[in-house]
Amino acid sequence: MKHNIEEIKRKLKKYGQEHLLNFYDTLDEKKQDQLLDQIEKIDFELINSLYNKTKNADKKEEAVIESIDFIDKYKLNGDYKYYEDLGKKAIREGKLAAVTMAGGQGTRLGHNGPKGTFDIGLDSHKSLFELLCDYLKNESAKYNVQIPWFIMTSKENNSATIEFFKKNKYFGYEKNIHFFVQGELPMVDTEGKILIGEDGLIKEAADGHGGVYESLLKSGMTEKMKELGVEWVFIGGVDNCLVKMVDPVLMGIAIDKGVTAAGKSVVKANPHEKVGVFCKKNGKPSVIEYIDISEEMAEATDKDGELLYGESHILCNLFNISAIERMGKTPLPYHSAFKKATYIDKDGNKVVPDKPNAYKFEAFLFDAFGEVDDMAILRVKREEEFAPVKNATGVDSPETARKLYNDFYKLS
Ligand code: UTP
Repeated sequence: MKHNIEEIKRKLKKYGQEHLLNFYDTLDEKKQDQLLDQIEKIDFELINSLYNKTKNADKKEEAVIESIDFIDKYKLNGDYKYYEDLGKKAIREGKLAAVTMAGGQGTRLGHNGPKGTFDIGLDSHKSLFELLCDYLKNESAKYNVQIPWFIMTSKENNSATIEFFKKNKYFGYEKNIHFFVQGELPMVDTEGKILIGEDGLIKEAADGHGGVYESLLKSGMTEKMKELGVEWVFIGGVDNCLVKMVDPVLMGIAIDKGVTAAGKSVVKANPHEKVGVFCKKNGKPSVIEYIDISEEMAEATDKDGELLYGESHILCNLFNISAIERMGKTPLPYHSAFKKATYIDKDGNKVVPDKPNAYKFEAFLFDAFGEVDDMAILRVKREEEFAPVKNATGVDSPETARKLYNDFYKLS
């Protein structure tokens, strides 16, 4: 037997998690093995400390926040072509790969299935995945290359995602598509007890989009990229149907400035828009959340009247592989989110909560930005690059995304 059950019991007792074996005897042998595997992989110290943090209001760390320089894509004048040519050359040489993070749960949208399979209601009824794939195919043709597409899934949606691609014959892009699965962390209830899911195993949830760097590294994807000759990696979300994964100007700027990371921003709709903005934290690139910005900072402007903290982070970033390798080895802080999670209670009953009941722990992609010394920020136009699908209705919904998409592609 590969597991030392007595050792596991001792460990569970130490951390007050003995209930995890309550239904062990009712599981078949394969699941018993899976459960013990899960338990052995849990960092109980980490889970304990993350749970304890949910009880104490986060102490704000002391940090020096300053504004960060940005370049406006449409005020580059003569330099535009210079950067564009530099980027185009690198793309034609096959140095760019695209990563789409599709491991989220999409709880706000409430779609039954991976978010990428969602149809935003275009006349074509294409899914988000197909829209992104169409875009990549077009760009590949433009540059006479095959831009490799790396898709991050979660354990929860990996097989449904792959099934969807198979069913759709990979939209004709099969040999360029690579799937990899992100990491997970156990969910805990309000008492700090790890939840058991309906399958009798530990209830785990994806570890946030910040998990992308480590997963790229651990799954061997960075090695694969290097074999393909890739040097630059665009990382974006699955839920922005206007995401421009191939941007020669962004790439040209990164190359010319000798930085290993570059991010796109759109200017805030108003000083108090609830978005995270690019900034410098203790001299390093970072993103500051709207709740951490004072009213005075939010309204502050520079000599040209531009908001000092006005560059919204839209989850569209470009990294040199060397930066990903560094970020993938750096542990990121986890943030907790209080969510609804179906679980099996101590009497073996399935509980479907109607309000949040458990903590999920997530790392944020931008918490790794401080690993690079400098980052080029390129301000782009919202109507050209940012059509997020977050909510079922209202702002950032299929309706708003559909309109932005149709307007951009002049479809109606
Ligand atoms: P969001 O933070 O908007 O989360 O993700 P979400 O899962 O799509 O939606 P909610 O919050 O549950 O309603 C932004 C992007 O990051 C990806 C998402 O798939 C989306 O493309 N993501 C998020 C991951 O890939 N993994 C995660 O663990 C979290």
